Amino acid sequence: MCGIIGYIGEREKKEFLINGLKELEYRGYDSAGIATFKNGHISSYRALGKLENLIHKTDLFSSDGFGLGIGHTRWATHGKPTEINAHPHCGEFSHIIHNGIIENHREIKKNLLSKGVKFLSQTDSEVIVHQFEKFISEGMDAKKAFKNTIEIVQGAYAILLITKDEPDTIFFAKSRVPLMLGTNRKKEKFMSSSDAPLMGHATEVVYLEDGEYGWITKDEISIFADEQLVTPKFITLKKNKIHAQKNGFRFFMEKEIYEQSNVISETFMGRVSNDSIELEELNNIDFNNIDSIKICACGTSYHAGLVATYLFERLSKIKCQVEIASEFRYKEPLLDKKTLFLSISQSGETADTLEALKIAKIAGLTSLAICNVDNSSIVRLSDVTLLTRAGIERGVASTKAFATQVATLWLLALYIGKNRKTISKEKMRTEIEALLRIPSVLVVKNSTHEKIKRLSKRYLHGHGFFFIGRDIFFPLALEGALKLKEISYLHAEGYPAGEMKHGPIALVDSELFTIALMPQTILYDKIKNNVEELSARDATILAISPKKLNLADDFIKTSNQSHPMSEFFEMMIIMQILALEIAVRLGNDIDMPRNLAKSVTVE
Ligand code: AGP
Repeated sequence: MCGIIGYIGEREKKEFLINGLKELEYRGYDSAGIATFKNGHISSYRALGKLENLIHKTDLFSSDGFGLGIGHTRWATHGKPTEINAHPHCGEFSHIIHNGIIENHREIKKNLLSKGVKFLSQTDSEVIVHQFEKFISEGMDAKKAFKNTIEIVQGAYAILLITKDEPDTIFFAKSRVPLMLGTNRKKEKFMSSSDAPLMGHATEVVYLEDGEYGWITKDEISIFADEQLVTPKFITLKKNKIHAQKNGFRFFMEKEIYEQSNVISETFMGRVSNDSIELEELNNIDFNNIDSIKICACGTSYHAGLVATYLFERLSKIKCQVEIASEFRYKEPLLDKKTLFLSISQSGETADTLEALKIAKIAGLTSLAICNVDNSSIVRLSDVTLLTRAGIERGVASTKAFATQVATLWLLALYIGKNRKTISKEKMRTEIEALLRIPSVLVVKNSTHEKIKRLSKRYLHGHGFFFIGRDIFFPLALEGALKLKEISYLHAEGYPAGEMKHGPIALVDSELFTIALMPQTILYDKIKNNVEELSARDATILAISPKKLNLADDFIKTSNQSHPMSEFFEMMIIMQILALEIAVRLGNDIDMPRNLAKSVTVE
């Protein structure tokens, strides 16, 4: 997720903007930039990498006296992390910064190119400033040109625009990505993606709603919705920065569980239409030359890969194997050039996965990375990459990274199926309908969270946990067990439900807690039989299902979904929150569990 900061007033603007961007670093970024506007002149600076590089670049620059300023930290979604792709993006006389994804940027760009407009970057964002200036060249004033530009762009955006056409004004617009405005007794004006950069500066703020746009000068804030002027509802700005960075949640992990709904929408943005999947990053791969897929990953990413094996074989009708990277790299694997090598990694820096990728490259396989961090080692080494767009994940125990990995792999399975003609139009439509419902499935219900918080007190001891599931719910069981282990330090195993009778059932007694994933859309009767076997031996059972199960000691009811993936994501949320609330009761460090690192860059 990118970071946005804006200012109108008498302060030295470079320092204010860069300090504001420092408060947004927690959102993750790979480049940054600022633009200031004073006495008719716009100064713009951009730098790849960390803010220190931008600070170095602007070392001799300052912008005293009254003026405007905008600043941006970029998390790449379209176009590599490079200086030319960093924001602000400029036209002839305007600069913009943008957070989000312009879904229809290809059409807008094609139209503008046909009219002779020159583009410099590979980003979707650049279309905004050129469309704005095109309208002005056609005779519109800046306000009408901005309004018309906002009406054209589709997708998610938080935009700030400055233009020589209106030297005292910053234009703004907000849809599906946070943007707030602020002011204080000195009548300074502020804009930001979140609270933290405005703390200590703004006293009153307004959080813009989706579809709101407008302009802000030193004397006035004009907000419009559906072309009607809106009366801004200012509130007093909170004071606690760390609390603000967690958006008011207790932990980054909790915040990241709750933001999965919004983040998945970004994963899908520009890739899903009502009847097709478009993955332009893969245009150069001929899937008719691929006859199997080999996946390598570690930890949670390995679990996402396991889910993908079911999806690729069921939807794309292509053989698929997943291997733990640390095993793969030493087993002298037999590899075939017609195999697509898929590495899955949140960080893109996991040593075992990186080494597995190198082995595949040496063997001449085509490599595709499913990764959250552009320009990471795994991305740079892979032939092509599908970014998961989860934004920075601060919690060591991975949550939204896993959700976006599975979602991206589902998109990929459908895309390959489309290319291999293994999916009928009707099936594709059904899959896409289910896929587009996932953001709403991922909205955490307060009643569910409260129920899990209450029942977690019963699971603080015992001699261990079995998480059991079948089909795609077996990897989910593995993931649920890993979440619990990572942050509660209690022992847990994920197990194929059908395997319990081949040994582990010997462990069963009332002190063995079984978390049973019981979806109604896949093998319900089979998993019910497995749970009955365990209950008959006095196991303590927490059943998670849309169907009531009287023999369960605890029961969490899920909703009546018609697609397995909808049930998967709903049960995933429950797994994540269960681990969180047990660990909270045990008093553990949720975001930085003992012995763990966010990225394991050593063997
Ligand atoms: C997940 O909760 C863990 N933090 C860990 O298993 C992680 O998934 C694993 O280290 C792989 O990391 P990567 O996705 O960055 O490659």
